[in-house]
Order: sequence, then C-alpha cells, then structure tokens
Amino acid sequence: MRIRNTEVRLKIIFNYTLLFLACITILAIAIVNFMEEIAPMVIHIHPQTQVGCNGHIELCDRKYSNITQIATHDSAFVGILPTDDQVVDVAGQLDAGVRFLQGQTHRNVFGTLSLCHTSCFLKDAGSVASYLKAVKGWLDTHPKEVVTLLLTNGDNVPVSEFDEVFTASGIQPYAYIPGPSHDPSVLDSWPTLGELVGNGTRLVAFLDYGALDTVPYILPEFLYFWETPFDMTDPSFPQCIIDRPGGLAVDPSRAHQRMYIINHFLDTLMLGMDIPDRRDARKTNAATGTDSIDAQVNLCQKQHGRAPKGILVDFFDKGDVFEVQDALNGL
Ligand SMILES: *[C@@H]1O[C@H](CO)[C@@H](O)[C@H](O)[C@H]1NC(C)=O
Ligand SMILES: *[C@@H]1O[C@H](CO)[C@@H](O)[C@H](O)[C@H]1NC(C)=O
Repeated sequence: MRIRNTEVRLKIIFNYTLLFLACITILAIAIVNFMEEIAPMVIHIHPQTQVGCNGHIELCDRKYSNITQIATHDSAFVGILPTDDQVVDVAGQLDAGVRFLQGQTHRNVFGTLSLCHTSCFLKDAGSVASYLKAVKGWLDTHPKEVVTLLLTNGDNVPVSEFDEVFTASGIQPYAYIPGPSHDPSVLDSWPTLGELVGNGTRLVAFLDYGALDTVPYILPEFLYFWETPFDMTDPSFPQCIIDRPGGLAVDPSRAHQRMYIINHFLDTLMLGMDIPDRRDARKTNAATGTDSIDAQVNLCQKQHGRAPKGILVDFFDKGDVFEVQDALNGL
C-alpha cells in the first residue's frame, strides 16, 4: 500500500513538473515574441484606394483565376503565443491590403463552430460567425473589393452548418455562386474582378473538405485548386510538388487547369510540435533572395508554367509580401 501511494505521489509530482515546465516554456516564448513584436512596429500597409477593383483599374478586366494574392494563413490566430500565426487582426489584415484569408475551423466543447488551432483546447479564436461578421462589415464599407476566403473543416462538420453560420452572419449574399457556364476544369471560366464587383458577389468562399452542391456558394477547394505541402520546416522551401488533392500528384497534366496555392509559411519545432517560426518571418516573407517568397514562386512557375493564385504566409506584416503580389500581377 505504501509503495503504491509513493508511486502515485511521484507520478503526480512528475506530471505537475512537466506541466509547469511546459507553461514556463510557453510563457518564455510569449515574452520573446512580445519583445519581437514591440520592437519597431512597422506594418507594411499596401495603400488601397477605392478605385478600380481591389485598388487597381487594371485588375477589373482580369479573370479572378489570373490574379495572384497573398493569403494570411490562420488569419484568426492573432497574438504572441506559440499557437498564433499573425499579429494584426482580420480587419487590420484587410485594411493593410490582404484579399485572401485562410482559417482553420473546429467544433469547440460547446458545439460551436469556431476558429481553433488543431484543437479548441490549444487555441479558440472565437466563433466562425463572429469572424464572418467582421469580414462582412469590411465588405460593406469597401464596395470595390473582392475577398477570397478559404476555410478548413477539421472536424468534418456538415456543410449545412457552415451554411447556417454564413447566413446568420449576413455574409452569404456576398458569396459568388458559379453559374452553369462556369466549368471548374477551365481556368478561364472564372469571371473578371469587374464582373464580381458589378454583381456584388465579392466573396469567393472555399471549404477544403465537405462542400456539397446543396450549398452552392461554398466551393469545394480541391475542385478548383491544388496545393503544395504545408508545415514545412526547411526554410528554403525546396520543392513545388502537388501535395493535395492526392490524385493529382500522379498525373500533373490534370493540374494544368487548376489554380494553385503555395504554402509559404515556415514552422519550427517546439517540444515536439510544429509551431509558426516568428523569428525567421522577415526572411521567409522577403520579396527576393534566398528562402524568399520569390525563390519558391520562381521554382513553381518553372515547374507549372504560371503563377500561383494564392501564397499563404504567416506574419504577413513582416517582409515585403505585397511587393511579390504586385510584381506577379504586373502592377
Ligand atoms: C451576374 O448576375 C447576373 C444576373 O443575376 C448573372 O446572370 C451573371 O451570371 C452574373 N455574373 C457573374 C460573373 O456572376
Ligand atoms: C496570368 O496570366 C499570365 C499570362 O498568361 C501568366 O503569365 C500569369 O502567370 C497568370 N497568373 C496567374 C495567377 O494565373
């Protein structure tokens, strides 16, 4: 009996020590991140005037599928914790010039569809409804802007629930619905930005898994896109292979008529977990040079013959992300 008690006690002490060490580590990282973020707080604002489409007259006649956009990976995870990928909130991202938002969804313990990082116990950044409300509010006051939204569906939530949340937030009427003449396997089927602005359908919404025809404005991501691998820890992003959808990996010829997304956000290892690499963000998000966005884009252009539609980044406010975007769009 005594031995058992000692054993149990030791186990408890051991577990608390582990928990304590994990907390100290997270706190230390948060402090370092905080110092990093308060240093010179320069947000690279991409001035957007309310002219043309997405700030440029030249873009009005361009097909949606032919415009490259910097995308904020995990756009809702804002802060200084190891689970945060951004520093500027979603409205601030849009104000700064971001027109492609990505978000990870899970169901939290109360059953609410929320923006959570891997699990809602690790990070719960609030409900999808309030996130969509913020985006809707921004669209209301920026009538010439087209925003792309890519949500992931980590818990396989039925698309009907996404539909309810989109409808309740008021954003649904902004969503583009492909008409019968829009063939997903033909890139040029996409309307121009001017047509999207003219029709008031200024939200193009995608879901990675679980989209169905019954909710026609939530588009199945992998019918329209392919993606490079994510969670990379090699700062040189040395490849541009088709990671998802799986079937395309064996037949690159089928990828030709799809838009593609580059996952250009770097992870680093902490306690055996991949966390966003904030320290190296300036280098990862540099416009040119070794390990830069341009370096990976060039590799992709060489292999796939055209520019990416989306370039997913963490900490978009660091580096020169819009420089790459403008250059690829010929602006
Ligand atoms: C714009 O709206 C009209 C009328 O609803 C529709 O016929 C047309 O297909 C829409 N165009 C685009 C690009 O969605
Ligand atoms: C847009 O079209 C031009 C000309 O064909 C091409 O060079 C460029 O890569 C395209 N961009 C995208 C994002 O498809």
